[in-house]
Amino acid sequence: MAAHNRTADAFVSNRIYAHIVGWGMAVPDRVLSNNDLAAIVETSDEWIVTRTGIHERRIAGETESTATLGLKAAQRALEVAEILPIELDMVIVATSTPEYIFPSTASLIQDWLGAAKAGAFDLSAACSGFVYAVNFAAQAIRSGSIETALVIGSETMSRVLDWQDRGTCILFGDGAGAVVLKASDVEGGVLSSVLRSDGSGWDLLTIPTVGSQDAELPGADSVQQKMGKMYMNGGEVFKFATRVIGESIQQALAQAGLTINDVKLIIPHQANARIIQSAARALKVEPELFMSNLERYGNTSAASIPIALCEAVEMGKIKQDDHIVFVGFGGGLSWGAMVVRWGRPESVERRALYRQRQQFSYFLAHWRRRLVRVSRRFNETLGRIRPEQGRIRRLRRKVERQPLD
Ligand code: UT7
Repeated sequence: MAAHNRTADAFVSNRIYAHIVGWGMAVPDRVLSNNDLAAIVETSDEWIVTRTGIHERRIAGETESTATLGLKAAQRALEVAEILPIELDMVIVATSTPEYIFPSTASLIQDWLGAAKAGAFDLSAACSGFVYAVNFAAQAIRSGSIETALVIGSETMSRVLDWQDRGTCILFGDGAGAVVLKASDVEGGVLSSVLRSDGSGWDLLTIPTVGSQDAELPGADSVQQKMGKMYMNGGEVFKFATRVIGESIQQALAQAGLTINDVKLIIPHQANARIIQSAARALKVEPELFMSNLERYGNTSAASIPIALCEAVEMGKIKQDDHIVFVGFGGGLSWGAMVVRWGRPESVERRALYRQRQQFSYFLAHWRRRLVRVSRRFNETLGRIRPEQGRIRRLRRKVERQPLD
């Protein structure tokens, strides 16, 4: 069925819903414990555990990067969704540690997957990035302009940490999580979202990059900036986070016509166990309502919510028709909360030979990439040879026209 006819009809009757139909995660094997950190900076396991709740985090190996971790998470999410890369309309990567400023990390993953019909872009909203990205994918699906989207949160925070700054290097880790969203006539999926920003707090959490030195932003002198390294005013970010979590959750719930009593699980950005406890107090709920896995991964920025989502599903914490909430907060300052009614719509059909077709599409993507790159290089070389040949031809004609002595 032509996607656009189907979605256009449903859009007229306002019945398109954006469901999360696939999820996947990938973390590096290398574990960095608090005791390992105590050998690098002046800190201790006891301080880190009591102040943050973190016991260990994962650190990317030499051959791992934001794109390779994101790719693995994406492949797993597509497998759960039983969707082939060619069916994707959009790939969004939420990240603060992209491979390049451009091209987007999303474009690299789009190519590696062989998602030849998809648009791709990176989204920069720091630790709120995943909530922002899911919101925009869901909006595009609900508007009828696309049918299927892949949203990835992927980070290699270890590459932007100042390993002499004990206020930040003990908090962060590397990893990736991904979800696949799909249009459906079945009610549910992403029900509401609240996205906010307060750029007046830009200097509380930053990674200076090309151009930062030239910017004349208010307060720029006060920031102890190191090019390409993260700076954080932990205390101020802590206060901001505890204020906005409860507030934005309540706003997103009100928008969905729900209350906190309807919520089965809140999946917050995994920043600090004390932030989660304080948000639970503000909302007058048990801390157990919040999913927490930061003791094993630390803060993986835009990847922390999708990683926690995958583990919550694996642990059986989320069931069909449960209302769950995502809440993210961080650099910008930015924050966002989102209410989702969980459940794969019945129309998601099981596909014969899905795994084989998925593997074949990666094989095709690999050879397509090689062929396109070779033919591009060939055309480039031709482009250089042709003007040279023209010059030789013109010279020859000139010589031929010369009268013989
Ligand atoms: O993902 C984006 C969002 N980010 C966040 O949400 C992070 C929010 N902030 C935090 O999680 C906390 O502010 C931190 C964990 C970063 C810091 O915890 P804190 O309880 O706010 O500690 P602090 O910065 O107020 O420092 C308290 C003391 C200080 O010593 P004095 O001045 O009291 O003698 C620090 O120098 O702890 C010291 N300290 C440390 N000691 C051992 C700071 N970092 C460390 C450390 N190990 N790693």
